Amino acid sequence: MSTSTHSALLARIVDDLAEHGWSLQPLFAPPLLTLELADECRKRAAQGDLTPAGVGRGSSQEVREGVRGDRIQWLDAGFSPACDRYLGLLDELRLALNRELYLGLEDCECHFALYPPGAFYQKHVDRFRDDDRRAVSAVFYLNPDWQPEQGGALRLYLADGTTREVLPEAGSLLVFRSADLPHEVLPASRERLSLTGWFRRRGGIL
Ligand code: OGA
Ligand code: MN
Repeated sequence: MSTSTHSALLARIVDDLAEHGWSLQPLFAPPLLTLELADECRKRAAQGDLTPAGVGRGSSQEVREGVRGDRIQWLDAGFSPACDRYLGLLDELRLALNRELYLGLEDCECHFALYPPGAFYQKHVDRFRDDDRRAVSAVFYLNPDWQPEQGGALRLYLADGTTREVLPEAGSLLVFRSADLPHEVLPASRERLSLTGWFRRRGGIL
């Protein structure tokens, strides 16, 4: 992807977020990088590195399969060249959001997520009751040739009362304001992989 194409993409995300509170980009990363990340997610899952995701944070965190059935692994810098490249792309987006929208985003936390067939995540918002640092959510999908009849859409509940369903197709990035848009993950008939991240503001625990 050339630098100018990438800047145009960042500008579209910034504009969408300012105007609508969310943005969907079908080609956020080069296809080869997306493939590498999907392979890495599958390999890590096969090694048993992904563990059932909790709900809530800190000591109030608990695994409740009735709420969310995905398995996750948090990413750290230096995990792999592919992860570092992806984190680099996210950081460019963070800087663009700060520059254009003055969001004051300090960092990004990000995890691999694998939803086995039939798993879902009930309607929620991406903000904890006792911590308002998460400002912008960014979900990057890793599943080639996703078909609508396979389910697994992310259903967004928009401010105007309508809903929008986003298929988890490889290469697409969905960005939205964490506190504003309730959403849910619908069950799928096939395994569903993603890299989910949150840009966080300074400040902290309420
Ligand atoms: C989440 C989430 C959406 C998705 O992890 O909080 O809403 O499409 N994920 O995976
Ligand atoms: Mn969410």
